[in-house]
Amino acid sequence: MRRPLVVGNWKMNTSREEATQLAAAVRARVAAVPVEVVLCPPFVWLEAVRRELEGATIRVGAQDVYWESNGAYTGAVSAEQLAELCEYVIVGHMERRRLFGETDQDVARKVAAAVRAGIVPILVVGEDADARGAGRTEEVVRGQLAATLPPPGSGPLVVAYEPAWAIGSGNPATPEQAQAVAGILRAQLADSGWDRETVPVLYGGSVGPETFGGFIAQPDLDGALVGRASLDPEAFSAMVETAAVTQF
Ligand code: PGA
Repeated sequence: MRRPLVVGNWKMNTSREEATQLAAAVRARVAAVPVEVVLCPPFVWLEAVRRELEGATIRVGAQDVYWESNGAYTGAVSAEQLAELCEYVIVGHMERRRLFGETDQDVARKVAAAVRAGIVPILVVGEDADARGAGRTEEVVRGQLAATLPPPGSGPLVVAYEPAWAIGSGNPATPEQAQAVAGILRAQLADSGWDRETVPVLYGGSVGPETFGGFIAQPDLDGALVGRASLDPEAFSAMVETAAVTQF
């Protein structure tokens, strides 16, 4: 059974007070809406946001994880540590790949660490503008997924398609472009032994309340990974409400 899923990636934004107020504002608006909602604040506010959401069905996720369980890894946070605070973690985001030099191998290790600790990985793949221009979108996203996908049956998993050229640009992909890639990813999941119906596939990249409906209406998309618009409780909640009335 497919269920809509809307994830907010707050990135490196919010003070402690802003984070708790944002969580409370989202909670007030969507508490009763039958949609899986995940808020991903910065590491430092995970605990505060989790407390703010106590008793609500809204989940908390981290934006990154390190693959070792513990030890001398200054500044790193392990999946086992995160498991005490949250249920999801974003892995493979373009900003991690581009700004922090993460490779597919690093992403694969992080996914494996999340699975080991019982946290749901939100595994992000996506091509850059050059790859799309060269007609290599399918090759790139399939390559990234093949290199990072955990073994079938290893636990819940979310896959997000985020073209690098759409993230933060104000220019989302069209719903048809997103659907084309989502269909490819879903077929690849099935070929890899995953149940194609139980892995939510999200679109991300400049999604807002005006465009969200077009994405969630696509047959192979279950929701969105939202950056900037997730910092606005009204905009974010409007997308959750749209998801709730979408027929799957
Ligand atoms: P954006 O970010 O919605 O601000 O484009 C999406 C993301 O990076 O997950």
